[in-house]
Amino acid sequence: ILSPKLLDIYDVSDNIVVIIDVFRATSTIATALYNGAKRVIPVDVVDKCIEIGMQTGGITAGERDGKIIPGLAHGNSPAEYPRSFIEGKTLVLTTTNGTKLLHMALNKGAAEVVTGSFPNLSAVCKYLVSQQKNVILGCSAWKDRFNLEDTLFAGAVIQQVKEHFTIHCDSSLMAADMYALHQNDIHQFIRKTTHWHRLASYGLESDLEYCVTPDVANILPIYRNGDLVVANS
Ligand code: MLT
Repeated sequence: ILSPKLLDIYDVSDNIVVIIDVFRATSTIATALYNGAKRVIPVDVVDKCIEIGMQTGGITAGERDGKIIPGLAHGNSPAEYPRSFIEGKTLVLTTTNGTKLLHMALNKGAAEVVTGSFPNLSAVCKYLVSQQKNVILGCSAWKDRFNLEDTLFAGAVIQQVKEHFTIHCDSSLMAADMYALHQNDIHQFIRKTTHWHRLASYGLESDLEYCVTPDVANILPIYRNGDLVVANS
């Protein structure tokens, strides 16, 4: 799916839904878990994030419109979660689009929810191939509008797994073609995106470069009883 609004037209009840928010929520989730976070609790609204942070003793974090929210301890930058800081801790995260789509998928009864981004591209693909279930690649996009970077990642997944699946929708074919066209100039291509310009104006270019680097946090975050945790491989 290319934007959250389109989730409504799918029956997700027998699907693995891969939540994709390349810039930056799902890149941050993969990084925090790769660096040893005990769990990431994804939250859709800020007040709930603060409340869950108090109940669990977790680190509250997140953004709205790309900026750190007053009242939360940390932001949505993967660089904020090195092993020396996050190992063994709980991260309670709320973001503009990524954690919102994740909750939409849960509310619609998704059979399984995992998160994907370039930093954990291979782990996502390996998992999807091993499961052989129906898959929805859910692009969080930007405030219900299409975006390029999440579509690019969906295309990267499709390119790696396509031999093992039947593709039922034209948007997937389009994403795969777009990725094939730009896979050798990704770092240039993503500079066109609107969210690049938004975040670069806050001085976050290094986050953006990191978020399109494959397999630097190559674990699979999977949703289990309120938490995103590392799936057993
Ligand atoms: C989101 O969930 O919309 C993003 O992660 C926003 C951001 O870049 O921080």
